[in-house]
Amino acid sequence: MAGDERIRLFCALQLPEGVRGELAVWAAEHLHDKGRLVRADDLHVTLAFLGSRPATELPAIVAELGAASRDAAAVELRPQRYHETRSVGMIVLDDVGGTATALADDLQGRLERLGVYRREARPWLPHLTVLRFRGQAGLHPEVANMCSIHVVRSALYRSSLGPGGARYDALETAALGGT
Ligand code: 2AM
Repeated sequence: MAGDERIRLFCALQLPEGVRGELAVWAAEHLHDKGRLVRADDLHVTLAFLGSRPATELPAIVAELGAASRDAAAVELRPQRYHETRSVGMIVLDDVGGTATALADDLQGRLERLGVYRREARPWLPHLTVLRFRGQAGLHPEVANMCSIHVVRSALYRSSLGPGGARYDALETAALGGT
């Protein structure tokens, strides 16, 4: 590994495979012709977006993600509603018991103290991006009858930008405590 290599990084909650499949089917049904759907494998709930970081920081970041995840309580997320920003369509999630929010807060604090991250001004919003577009799609689909999502792992992801959109690879994963 070259000493000056940089990697685009973010930490996220990983979703069980079955849930990702279910969400991808829902998205294909309701959103398919309105932009670029996020592939089932790439669906995640971002905890902290770090951006481009020196590869040498990886071990320390992985250690903080592991520690925050170990300290976390069980996470249950309930799909609430579909929402669009200027560039994405997302499913907003209800963080039952607030445990995902507590994990995001703890992790963001740890990463800040490490000097690799700065919190955003707006509060953390538990959500799942399912669609990316140029110009709002203007959709209002129901997120009907979707079960609670029980999250058991977090991961540090590398984001690789390419012509077909970003691809995400989990570099390391960490088990959530309380699961
Ligand atoms: P999103 O979940 O709202 O789409 C990888 O790019 C992940 O980091 C995406 O899921 C994205 O948010 C999140 N992210 C947060 N801030 C970002 C930024 N400034 N640029 C790119 N991605 C960002």
